[in-house]
Amino acid sequence: MGVLQNFVVFEGGDGSGTSTQLGILKQRFAGGGPGALPPLVATFEPTGGPVGHFLRSALRGDIQLLGETMARLFSADRAEHLYKEDGVVQLAKRGSLVVCDRYTLSSRVYQGIECGDELPVILNKDFPAPELLLYFDVDPIIAFERCKQRSQRDIYERLNFQIQVRGRYRSLLDSCRAEGSCVVEIDASAAIDSVAQVVWRNISQLPIMKGCTGQ
Ligand code: TYD
Repeated sequence: MGVLQNFVVFEGGDGSGTSTQLGILKQRFAGGGPGALPPLVATFEPTGGPVGHFLRSALRGDIQLLGETMARLFSADRAEHLYKEDGVVQLAKRGSLVVCDRYTLSSRVYQGIECGDELPVILNKDFPAPELLLYFDVDPIIAFERCKQRSQRDIYERLNFQIQVRGRYRSLLDSCRAEGSCVVEIDASAAIDSVAQVVWRNISQLPIMKGCTGQ
């Protein structure tokens, strides 16, 4: 499967700030004035749909599932997200900029640790690659401190696991480049505002942003 234009993905370990940065980006687009910027669709995985909902109860530890089952559920959730009516593919093809917090690389990184590389690769090989992938890199010890302030922990928020997560992200970025995505590594230990500037710089260089004034 090829690259889906107008589709951007944020990736990173837990506590790397992807959700915060997506929120900042949304505000920037909301303040852009009519016609000044393309429509932004900010979305995330696991989704708020039925499979995503089920996954979240497994992530909270309410139900226990094999790593292999998690891998299958994440790819089922993703297929719905991409191909449903008004899903990611339709929206991006119609000219929205779709930015998604986590995508296939999360499955290859997280489920790869739990059930080996092969299954996540097979389950995700037919999904389109993003045009741009921003990887938020942060020392797991710093990220872990950030996660500590959250009321709810998920099953992957363990320091040893997050150290493996970071190693796997870094080792898999080149394979994303080989699939045709533009991959940018961002130092996510920097201040929120300076990370937001780097995000904006990269987003504003996308072909869909050509001729947009932004702010
Ligand atoms: P998310 O809601 O982004 O958590 P956070 O805001 O804490 O970063 O993602 C929830 C968890 O789901 C996160 O620990 C990563 C995991 N995940 C996978 O293991 N595989 C996947 O394919 C996806 C999309 C997420």
